[in-house]
Amino acid sequence: MNDARQHDDANERGSAQNHGASVGLTADKITIRGGIPLVGRIEVKGAKNLVTKAMVAALLGETPSVLKDVPNISDVRIVRGLLEVHGVKVTEGDEPGTLVLDPVDVESAHFAAIDAHAGSSRIPILFCGPLLHRLGEAFIPDLGGCRIGDRPIDFHLEVLRKFGAVVEKQPNGIRMSAPNGLKGAKLELPYPSVGATEQVLLTAVRAEGLTELKGAAIEPEIMDLINILQKMGAIITVDTDRVIRIEGVARLVGYNHRALFDRNEAASWAAAALATDGDIFVGGARQAEMITFLNVFRKVGGAFDICDDGIRFYHPGGDLKPVIIETGVHPGFMTDWQQPLVIALTKAHGTSIVHETVYEQRFGFVDALVEMGATIQIHKECLGGHTCRFGQRNFNHSAVITGPTKLRGADIIVPDLRGGFSHLIAALSAEGTSTVSNVGIISRGYENFIGKLRLLGADFDLEG
Ligand code: EPU
Repeated sequence: MNDARQHDDANERGSAQNHGASVGLTADKITIRGGIPLVGRIEVKGAKNLVTKAMVAALLGETPSVLKDVPNISDVRIVRGLLEVHGVKVTEGDEPGTLVLDPVDVESAHFAAIDAHAGSSRIPILFCGPLLHRLGEAFIPDLGGCRIGDRPIDFHLEVLRKFGAVVEKQPNGIRMSAPNGLKGAKLELPYPSVGATEQVLLTAVRAEGLTELKGAAIEPEIMDLINILQKMGAIITVDTDRVIRIEGVARLVGYNHRALFDRNEAASWAAAALATDGDIFVGGARQAEMITFLNVFRKVGGAFDICDDGIRFYHPGGDLKPVIIETGVHPGFMTDWQQPLVIALTKAHGTSIVHETVYEQRFGFVDALVEMGATIQIHKECLGGHTCRFGQRNFNHSAVITGPTKLRGADIIVPDLRGGFSHLIAALSAEGTSTVSNVGIISRGYENFIGKLRLLGADFDLEG
């Protein structure tokens, strides 16, 4: 395996039961009787894609950090486990959903303890910079995460090398060392990768001298990570045109932070409200980080009310309308939003196009929808107006959805996290009964989704 193409060999389906079990979901299969509008109020906590990185940032502090609004999801459990094997003491704080992360006794972990986390998540790659600063070495197991493309880590390894890390590929992962310490560098990403930008931030804050990163990702979760690092003592400037400058400092302290809400979870419940003719109040959701989603939601025919404590998403009646969506980096339409929203598009009157430009293989979930009666064709060409980096590369990355179609219940198997939530919505909005298997994966990113479905009036039984 060459290091530019290193990705997980873990069988996502095989590990699904473990994902659910670690957060108290014992069933792996749900039988859903569809056709009931989801109505009610649910709350979202901190964003999976911020909280997990914030937990890693705690490694950089000389004193304990306090993170609030941490959701009980299996990705958080995995990162917690990996921190604990490196000597970080993680305890629950007084307020529910609060973690106290004490890195004072950070130590090198045994290979077996680290390897136990192989294939479970993509977050371990972000341990590199903090561990190199703290211990002078790091071992990163093979990564996991959703299978929605090849998901290489070449950008990560390239920037770490430029900071001065020595990277050595080994059969079960990557060993790194920093014999001469880490030094600030001039860096440019070929694509505004979220993970690689976080890698640079978590490494540069304590590297000696100045780091300049061009082509950075600027997702709200990254901005919140910058908030956290600033609280710890870092000096970070976000300039125009995706340039981030970091002045390295000699020491950082712990932070106290309430995590940014999970806009991907909020968008998923919004999509569920629209597809089921429902009405869901998502407590904790905020407008500013969802502006692009809200525009599309409205164009499809959904309605929303912005309130101080959340956003109400509902189907106001009338026909849903087709849209052309192109996913992209922030402030574009997030790739994580397209999968749940596709279910509503199967009910829209006309032809919608979804051009996926972030991941080359994020349409695996549509086979099950076609089996349920949706009319969806997947194309290799860039449809919808623009040419993306996947255009000449034979990837099935554009979907044409023709509606309206009625979905019928079926037996379906969840392929990945967001695709899985999309399958739940399909089953909830379909006529008849569906059996959705492998639902444990959904626990990677959706806290207590079973309890929330109950609150919203869904009719289902758990099995297995
Ligand atoms: N890429 C490379 N080389 C690299 C890194 C990325 O080619 O070294 C490519 C990827 O293959 C992909 C693109 O760059 O085609 C964007 O990847 P990015 O690094 O931005 O994604 P990520 O950091 O791995 C995070 C989220 C994803 C979310 C994306 C985009 C986490 C743990 N994951 O992934 O969330 O879709 O950013 O916003 O933060 C999810 O929550 O379901 C999920 C997949």
